[in-house]
Amino acid sequence: MGKQGIQTHIEEKMTKALVVYTTRTNETKNIAELIAEGIRFTGAEATVANVTGIKKEVDLEGYDAYVFGSATYHGQMMQGMKTMLFLAEKANLEGKVGGSFGAFGWSGEAPSRIFDTMTNIFKMDMVGGPLRLKSASLGGGIQMCQDYGKEIGKKLNAS
Ligand SMILES: Cc1cc2nc3c(=O)[nH]c(=O)nc-3n(C[C@H](O)[C@H](O)[C@H](O)COP(=O)(O)O)c2cc1C
Repeated sequence: MGKQGIQTHIEEKMTKALVVYTTRTNETKNIAELIAEGIRFTGAEATVANVTGIKKEVDLEGYDAYVFGSATYHGQMMQGMKTMLFLAEKANLEGKVGGSFGAFGWSGEAPSRIFDTMTNIFKMDMVGGPLRLKSASLGGGIQMCQDYGKEIGKKLNAS
């Protein structure tokens, strides 16, 4: 491929987002799927993965944006997300677009904890704040999830 060919290839490359969730009763999974829809509305690609599918650093490579989510249990994010964040620490996500989310019942600490780690440790280019929802199916939840995805997509298009 000549120089011209390579250039064209780069220009046509779609931006990609990885949405990783951990859940016990699927509320956080539903949020993840809707965030991915919102990202796709903006023209970017979005892959949704359960945290159980992220086993090695290489599973986190090759994306322009990362959105991590966990439900809150006993005031904390779920263990799978904690483990994955240690993996992500090694994956050099600095400067990549980021967001976090999660379903909760009353206190909802997990999305903020994930958000803070992505901001302070990974030094990512974060959207305005975490998305916390009791359920995607309650009062405007679908719209809120899709809008969060659109926010990620807009940041990707701007960067
Ligand atoms: C044993 C137990 C502990 C929980 N602890 C919390 C908690 O500390 N704070 C909170 O906001 N919600 C708490 N919840 C509520 C869950 O976060 C809520 O049901 C959420 O929708 C579950 O999401 P998931 O379907 O993605 O697992 C708890 C639920 C259970 C069953």
